[in-house]
Amino acid sequence: MSLPPHVRLVEVGPRDGLQNEAQPISVADKVQLVDALSAAGLDYIEVGSFVSPKWVPQMAGSADVFAQIQRKPGVTYGALAPNMRGFEDALAAGVKEVAVFAAASEAFSQRNINCSISESLERFVPIMDAAKQHGVTVRGYVSCVLGCPYEGEVAPEQVAVVARELYSMGCYEVSLGDTIGTGTAGATRRMFEVVSAHVPRDKLAGHFHDTYGQALANIYASLLEGIAVFDSSIAGLGGCPYAKGASGNVASEDVLYLLNGLGVETGIDMERLILAGQQICSVLGRPTGSRVAKARYPG
Ligand code: HMG
Ligand code: MG
Repeated sequence: MSLPPHVRLVEVGPRDGLQNEAQPISVADKVQLVDALSAAGLDYIEVGSFVSPKWVPQMAGSADVFAQIQRKPGVTYGALAPNMRGFEDALAAGVKEVAVFAAASEAFSQRNINCSISESLERFVPIMDAAKQHGVTVRGYVSCVLGCPYEGEVAPEQVAVVARELYSMGCYEVSLGDTIGTGTAGATRRMFEVVSAHVPRDKLAGHFHDTYGQALANIYASLLEGIAVFDSSIAGLGGCPYAKGASGNVASEDVLYLLNGLGVETGIDMERLILAGQQICSVLGRPTGSRVAKARYPG
């Protein structure tokens, strides 16, 4: 199969990247990050989450971040919403796209959102209805598609069942998450082969954490499967608070370098992207997790 000519990067750094940070990060610093990312040409930025602040304290200021970002035309500013309370808060904050998140493993579902997979899917139904009524689009996530921190192996057929449910209830796209980054290129291809028998490939996205250093290989494997949307995180920030040891998503800068080398169009400016990464890393007082940014600006 030939490579897709254009790929969309969904920048999840402000949400998936920062949700795991223990140190307080000000609203102003989050706003600066989101604005720097839109200036780099990203047209999808996941800004925050409307989840319980007891579960994920870092996302508590998401409404304030939404109130202060410079909304650039053509850019989607998304947020996670696990239940109706989250959806209503997102709506009040002027959010036009939310993401609901389920898991392919029961144990992870319990630890992450305190309910079973089927209960989570039931909770999403009223969100879908309300979203439709308010003209809000909904993206879906499935976690643990290539392994679970509590259950180990996860069958691609189980991923397909959950992805199909999300798609058939109205998610316009379903992002398949290798939450703990244990997946390999071979497992990635098999998983997309199985899932795409139930959800069209152009409605699927890949979300790879880089814990085992396999994310870029897995993205290339996904491209060969005809997948053209990938989630990535500026400077490789992040991890999931309910998946111990999970590192950040693959760094956006590194995915862009891969895609530029393949001649795949993204509309993203590398230098501005690196700058956005440098700014947030200086806020966090931490070196970048992007190999490309490190190589371009050593020391
Ligand atoms: P729960 O405790 O079962 O909820 O949490 P509840 O309905 O029993 O309510 C308990 C309390 O939470 C109540 O407050 C509610 O008002 C409040 P109290 O009466 O005790 O003061 N509450 C809320 N507050 C704010 N916003 C809300 C909300 N809902 C209830 N939306 C819940 C269930 C889903 C809320 C909780 O488990 C939760 O917030 N989990 C968040 C998990 C999370 O954000 N995980 C990280 C994101 S997922 C991820 O990273 C994976 C991904 O990147 C893909 C991949 O890598 O695989 C997407
Ligand atoms: Mg994630």
